[in-house]
Amino acid sequence: MSKLFTPYQLGPITLRNRTIRSAAFENMCYGNKPSQDLFDYHTSVAKGGIGMTTIAYCAVNRSGVSFDGQLWMREEIIPDLKKLTDAIHAEGAKASIQLGHCGNMTHYYTCGCMPVGPSTGFNLYSPTLVRGLKVDEIKALVKDFGKAVNMCREAGFDCVEIHAGHGYLISQFLSPYTNKRRDEYGGSLDNRMRFMREVLAEVMTAAKDDMAVVVKTNMYDGFKSGLQLPDCITVAKEIEKFGVHAVVLSAGFVSKAPMAVMRGAMPLKTLAHYMDMAKFWWLKAALALVGRWMIPTVPFKEAYFLEDAKKFRAELKMPIIYVGGLVSRQKIDEVLDSGFEMVQMARALVHDPAFVNKMKEADSTYRCGCKHSNYCIGRMYTKEMKCHHCVDNLPKKIQKEIAKAESCD
Ligand SMILES: Cc1cc2nc3c(=O)[nH]c(=O)nc-3n(C[C@H](O)[C@H](O)[C@H](O)COP(=O)(O)O)c2cc1C
Ligand code: SF4
Repeated sequence: MSKLFTPYQLGPITLRNRTIRSAAFENMCYGNKPSQDLFDYHTSVAKGGIGMTTIAYCAVNRSGVSFDGQLWMREEIIPDLKKLTDAIHAEGAKASIQLGHCGNMTHYYTCGCMPVGPSTGFNLYSPTLVRGLKVDEIKALVKDFGKAVNMCREAGFDCVEIHAGHGYLISQFLSPYTNKRRDEYGGSLDNRMRFMREVLAEVMTAAKDDMAVVVKTNMYDGFKSGLQLPDCITVAKEIEKFGVHAVVLSAGFVSKAPMAVMRGAMPLKTLAHYMDMAKFWWLKAALALVGRWMIPTVPFKEAYFLEDAKKFRAELKMPIIYVGGLVSRQKIDEVLDSGFEMVQMARALVHDPAFVNKMKEADSTYRCGCKHSNYCIGRMYTKEMKCHHCVDNLPKKIQKEIAKAESCD
């Protein structure tokens, strides 16, 4: 018997099935506010049968914003978020939101200050100078996570997902690559976990017993000087101690191994095409010269994280949400049969928001048409995120890039 369409109790909330739309940055929050595009996309996923949909990559304060089209949690956006969560609920789905802080992955003209991180330095990927956070600023940031959770409750969210992976601020504290501090927040892994621990304690207090809390964390950073799998098992066990309701296992580091997260190739022509020449001339030039070196391809295969995720399954008791490369009913059933409680999907639901309902109606061999061209990713850096199937009159060079990527399937 497939578990896929059976309900799941995630802490205080019940999902109608085992599927969650993974946090995949929409870049639809023009002026850092919810928009009609965001509303339309997430209500279409809710209507398409998902158990819960996740609004992506919301910063807990202004300094944590890395895109102009990204949310940062504040009182003035609550009414519009409430309209969105009401509409998601009306379709029978639950609503979650990913909370985080980008740390060094921003620029002063986006976040309004010199980017901050665990340590002072230079981030080649923005590129920007970065200022190491002072201890009182760390304490204030921890409080911002709690305040954001309370605002999410007011906005009608059932769940918050704390982003502790992918090389954003919590992950920057965890990783020896970005954390060079000599105080109680740096040095040993135990010290490097301190910021995460303080955030989780604050979040769990704010979530009380009426909101679900999920944490997205890395199984490895994806490069030699970053966190490796055994370190990440230690981190996951630390997360478990806080009584969070589930963990999402991912991997990769945006400033060092971005494609370890999503696999496949970054569509460099798409990425450069949408970038504003006046604002990003240096990045366009760098992409043309050393793009493949800066963003190396990592081969894609269906359910690419499954074997590593099983190693975490063997070590953890808390519920685990599997994410990474799910496009077919067969693989989803295999993952759920391997001891994972739920699955998250991003690209399958960018390609087709109704994928879940279609799986319900079709036989057990159903798969969606996403062939991981990653056009949606290249586009997302500059414009509202969309699948290439929803865009007319794409330039020839982009059509060729998509065709090439899809032929590697
Ligand atoms: C366009 C796009 C944007 C993404 N943005 C985020 C994000 O904001 N936060 C996050 O944790 N992961 C993000 N991801 C990663 C996905 O959540 C997911 O972990 C990854 O794509 C693997 O799942 P999939 O194979 O089902 O796409 C993004 C992925 C895509 C394709
Ligand atoms: S653009 Fe490509 S990778 Fe993205 S959802 Fe569409 S088919 Fe999938």
